[in-house]
Amino acid sequence: MKPKEQILAWARPEIVALKPYASARSEFKLGEKDMILLDANENPFNNGMNRYPDPMQGKVKKRLAEAKGTSVDQIFLGNGSDEVLNQLMIAFCQPGKDKAILLPPTFGMYQVCASINGIETVQIPLAKDFTLDVSAINKAQTDKTKIIFIANPNNPTGNCFALEDIKVIIENFDGLVVVDEAYVEFAEDKSVISWISDYPNLVVVQTFSKAQGLAGIRLGMAFAHPEIIDLMNKVKAPYNINTLTQTEVLKRLEEQGLIQQQVHQIREEKAKLLKGIKGISFVKKVYPSDANFFLVKMDNSTKRYNELIDRGIVVRNASKNQNCANTLRITVGTPDENNALIIALRSMDN
Ligand SMILES: Cc1ncc(COP(=O)(O)O)c(C=O)c1O
Repeated sequence: MKPKEQILAWARPEIVALKPYASARSEFKLGEKDMILLDANENPFNNGMNRYPDPMQGKVKKRLAEAKGTSVDQIFLGNGSDEVLNQLMIAFCQPGKDKAILLPPTFGMYQVCASINGIETVQIPLAKDFTLDVSAINKAQTDKTKIIFIANPNNPTGNCFALEDIKVIIENFDGLVVVDEAYVEFAEDKSVISWISDYPNLVVVQTFSKAQGLAGIRLGMAFAHPEIIDLMNKVKAPYNINTLTQTEVLKRLEEQGLIQQQVHQIREEKAKLLKGIKGISFVKKVYPSDANFFLVKMDNSTKRYNELIDRGIVVRNASKNQNCANTLRITVGTPDENNALIIALRSMDN
């Protein structure tokens, strides 16, 4: 089968057949010429925000395509990656019928999103050292499994998976492989975005919420074959990315020098934090991390979590995740915040 036919065969038939809502602004291209806009029932008095945003986010996608080395039609934008993940499930998984494969411990929203959409999940745990169990993943697939979610670097464990393992999964999976690269800026040379033209079943998800420093504006991205992007566009709300967000993202794309500097500083701070934490008697293990956070095993994670709260510091108790008993997930903060964390941990009784 040709890639396009293959993708349409994976998608939900009702979405393939869907005639999407045509928003007023998507029916024509705004040109250079000033047009009189009497098509969308807006308030005509200009305040900078009285018009609907560009429904297809043309300017943002053009700049993103340049920055990421993709074409515009390989990009979907969502209200955070959360919306991107949801649109993928809506477009490809039939409620009550299809399944998604999750690899616990993993990002919690995959399960929430599947449950909301009535999608059964198949759990294939990571190995004890948090690597991918490639043969178990390959064996788990049936004709109902439509999507597999891989967070790389992984959350909450912080490690990257071997790219060779990810490649084997993509090559053997008859459905979509979503590689969620929310933290990829912190892990050098780990992005698989350049693979999307080779693999029509690969969807790479990235976000402006982490290294890019814009969690507040909510912008997530999917990079994939244009046919997948078309299906996602069909199911999105017409104006899902607001004008303020589009403006801020365009600004941030011109500030990548600053972001690189911050990523570098966060990496250095992580190394300092790990050094500072080592040797504390109730810290039993620090797991290797390729992200801006790391997982630590404590003697008693709930006790240590509460003691940190008492000292005004909030971390994430990750203990409920599979194979993560007694762990805390700690985000790297500013130098002052990280010093405060080390002082707080050292002030606790053994
Ligand atoms: C692996 C992973 N993917 C996606 C997200 C959500 O990102 P966004 O803020 O773009 O919705 C998170 C947030 O914690 C995450 O850890």
